Amino acid sequence: MTRLTGKSALITGAGRGIGRGFAESYIAEGATVGIADIDFDLASQTAKELGDAAYPVQIDVSQQDSIDAAIARVVDHAGKLDILVNNAALFDASETVDITRATYDRLYAVNVAGTLFTMQAAAAQMIKQGHGGKIINMASQAGRRGEPLVLVYCSTKAAVISMTQSAGLDLIRHGINVNAIAPGVVDGAHWEHVDSMFAKLEGKPLGQKKAEVAAGVPAGRFAVPDDLAPMAVFLASSDSDYVVSQTYNVDGGQWMS
Ligand SMILES: NC(=O)c1ccc[n+]([C@@H]2O[C@H](COP(=O)([O-])OP(=O)(O)OC[C@H]3O[C@@H](n4cnc5c(N)ncnc54)[C@H](O)[C@@H]3O)[C@@H](O)[C@H]2O)c1
Repeated sequence: MTRLTGKSALITGAGRGIGRGFAESYIAEGATVGIADIDFDLASQTAKELGDAAYPVQIDVSQQDSIDAAIARVVDHAGKLDILVNNAALFDASETVDITRATYDRLYAVNVAGTLFTMQAAAAQMIKQGHGGKIINMASQAGRRGEPLVLVYCSTKAAVISMTQSAGLDLIRHGINVNAIAPGVVDGAHWEHVDSMFAKLEGKPLGQKKAEVAAGVPAGRFAVPDDLAPMAVFLASSDSDYVVSQTYNVDGGQWMS
């Protein structure tokens, strides 16, 4: 378990859920990890629970000043930045005719601009260091095709897949690999939120949407963060040096491309 020994990683939205799971795996592989979240108390608590190799980082990925301060904090704490996981994102569901500008602006500010400008700031730091790096963006099966009540979120994740392709092609000349992971459905607070939104929109009892979705997964169940972490470790390690601009489905067989 030494594939990331000596590496410095920053994971956004790592206070809970998938990002937290990735942080645990990176630490197990020898990395030091900045647990970055808009909820600094949550990031601090998580970092405390993960031990000495973790430290909290305040970040709101929708704010450029906050992104720059977070990168500076990582360099100050760990001396460098080798790995960025762009994981923070927001979800919303609504009928097309009810989508508001405010929801659109917020999801694009976090999921699209947040991913782009955190990636940009990390890449600039990695180029300055001169030893390449690894950037992993969190896409989704929602970025592979539209869904009737999820227009805005699906389109932000399609943008993440596209930005991963373009940035990867540009940054590989600096030895920076940019790739993405497209999960299917992953248990946790995010999906409790999704389920409650669908309960309202489709008039279903709480938990029913989740049960229906789980039944449709070829692997027969929701994922847990540990199902995705091996891919996140691979994409952060030198094993993926020749992997450029790809988005990997880790979704129990829900999507093939
Ligand atoms: N859970 C799923 O089923 C699923 C499926 C496909 C893709 N994904 C993607 O995986 C990633 C992680 O999902 P999750 O289920 O762990 O989500 P989550 O909602 O449990 O965690 C997201 C974290 O991001 C933080 N965050 C929110 N806005 C932020 C901001 N502006 N700046 C910094 N941090 C912010 C939250 O405080 C939270 O801790 C997301 O990109 C999500 O779209 C999740």
